[in-house]
Amino acid sequence: MNKAIARADIDEFYSENSIADWRAVLGPRMHYHFGLFRPGASAVSDADMDVALDRAIQVLYPHIPKGSSVLDIGCGWGGPCGLLREERGCTVKGVTISHAQAEYCRSLGMDVIHGNAEQDSTMFPQQVDVALMMESLGHMKDKEKLLRRLRACASKLVIRTHCSLVPQDAAFAGTAYIVTPETMRECLQRAGWNIEVWFDRRVESMPSIDAWQARVERLSDDALTGHLKLFRRWCAHILANPRAWAHSHPHLEIVAT
Ligand SMILES: C[S@@+](CC[C@H](N)C(=O)[O-])C[C@H]1O[C@@H](n2cnc3c(N)ncnc32)[C@H](O)[C@@H]1O
Repeated sequence: MNKAIARADIDEFYSENSIADWRAVLGPRMHYHFGLFRPGASAVSDADMDVALDRAIQVLYPHIPKGSSVLDIGCGWGGPCGLLREERGCTVKGVTISHAQAEYCRSLGMDVIHGNAEQDSTMFPQQVDVALMMESLGHMKDKEKLLRRLRACASKLVIRTHCSLVPQDAAFAGTAYIVTPETMRECLQRAGWNIEVWFDRRVESMPSIDAWQARVERLSDDALTGHLKLFRRWCAHILANPRAWAHSHPHLEIVAT
């Protein structure tokens, strides 16, 4: 039975493996989210995956105006922040619970807060054009509370997140809380958001698992500890029956104002 783990442990969960090992799995920009592939894509190469990872952010550009201010909650190693700065001229502030991610992002010149986005003591800017949550909302236990806080400081919300037809508390080694699409919709509405886009990306995103598995299998056994070890098991679990997993895990893109 999975158990919730302390927030400090989530920092460690995202900080323990080396940057080099994460780069071998996530690619040069260190995007930790699913890529989006053209329909019918299979047998993906590393290069295809890197294009698909960028594309997963680029398809959001119609919702993120050029030059806008963006608060990226759960910014990872800065993959999405980097593209938004370079290709959209956005001013981006990231938030991550991981000290290693914050340090890495700062080394690239990014403006990042190291803190737990679920705690009020982690201060957000007073007003931004867009709050972005790229595959990070699943980690938040009290989604409605965070979404309500973001309502007070952001004009628009752009999210990509997995849901599950069967809710999963404390999934992924106790770090994730995966709700049904219905619960997700209710959380957003109760938090005061008006949903404008609700789109399921699961068909386009599934080839990512093959690409990740190929990359993670190339790592040495020494590297396969902690989060990366779990990640390898998770890829293998999904690939045992990808259709069934995809069927039960909608991958939602949500834009709300
Ligand atoms: C799957 S990664 C996504 C990273 C990034 N958005 C990307 O697309 O590359 C999830 C991110 O959420 C962050 N995170 C998880 N729980 C958090 C919390 N309570 N507060 C702030 N960040 C959190 C993790 O540190 C990690 O950066």
